Amino acid sequence: MPRNLLGIRHLTQDDIQELLSLSADLKLRIIEGREVPNLSKEVVGMLFFENSTRTRVSFEQAAHYLKMKTANFSAGTSSMSKGETLKDTILTLRYERLNGLVMRHRMSGSTALAARYFGGPVLNAGDGQHEHPTQALADALTMIERKGSIEGLQVAIVGDVEHSRVARSNAWLLSKLGAEVRFVGPRSLMPSHTQMLPGQVHYDLRSGIEGVDVIICLRLQKERMADGMLSSITEYAAMYQVNRESLRWAKRDCLVMHPGPINRGVEVDDVAADGERSVITSQIENGIFVRMASLYWVFTGDEKPSPPPVAKAKAPKAATKKVATGGKKK
Ligand code: NCD
Repeated sequence: MPRNLLGIRHLTQDDIQELLSLSADLKLRIIEGREVPNLSKEVVGMLFFENSTRTRVSFEQAAHYLKMKTANFSAGTSSMSKGETLKDTILTLRYERLNGLVMRHRMSGSTALAARYFGGPVLNAGDGQHEHPTQALADALTMIERKGSIEGLQVAIVGDVEHSRVARSNAWLLSKLGAEVRFVGPRSLMPSHTQMLPGQVHYDLRSGIEGVDVIICLRLQKERMADGMLSSITEYAAMYQVNRESLRWAKRDCLVMHPGPINRGVEVDDVAADGERSVITSQIENGIFVRMASLYWVFTGDEKPSPPPVAKAKAPKAATKKVATGGKKK
């Protein structure tokens, strides 16, 4: 099996530390204009079945810095709109000799399914409500830069936890590196299986963010919500918005984070999103470096990706001509 990056939950503490130190090293190299690894032999497919701005562009930028080639795929214009299954689409891309896939899809578990059928590494760019590992890595790198380390931090993840893959990946990563996690939000937006997640649940914003070092704000993911999960957006904002007033309950030097896209005036106000405690733009920038590290990590893992088997065709008699490559004759 080639190395994949499908989630944080099954990574070891060493894997996470390795990915974060690779990210920091690559960041320094890019900033100082030094050499970075050259993966120019690799062609990676960018499969975004769901909308994306930050994740897609930063994966492309990361691939560009590593001199990889990208093959872009858009679900709307592909054969999936003609009824092709995900399995057949993935097999097609395998036999088109792509070397790796970055994939986002609305179904939880879809990237694991893709990894089963694809011969090379698969990187999860967000699968349903399950995981978004590179966002958690970007958030962790940002926290380490500002706070020195993750260990001992108190981190509140506030908002629509139920529908958030960012919340899940962050909770796994932060708890594995020794932070204390709190999930904060209304009961209707809290997963029913919180006892299986590493964190304490708070239904009240004040108790949830009291004394924390970091607040990760989450968007209300209306596209994944069933009717009746919220009485009204105004009421939600009145109870759970991270803003000038509620920020007073957190530590004075508490970081305000948000994976984006932000719905200003709902989960955060302008003071929280743009104020001096906000590190939202650093999260975006660090997204590039953790994605470079992730691409490098999967493509240079111990087990090399296996190319698809080649059926040896017997050339028909008339087609014995060889291609001229301009190389020297042996
Ligand atoms: C998030 C996502 O798509 O999971 N955004 C991101 O990738 N930066 C969060 C969201 O959509 O609210």
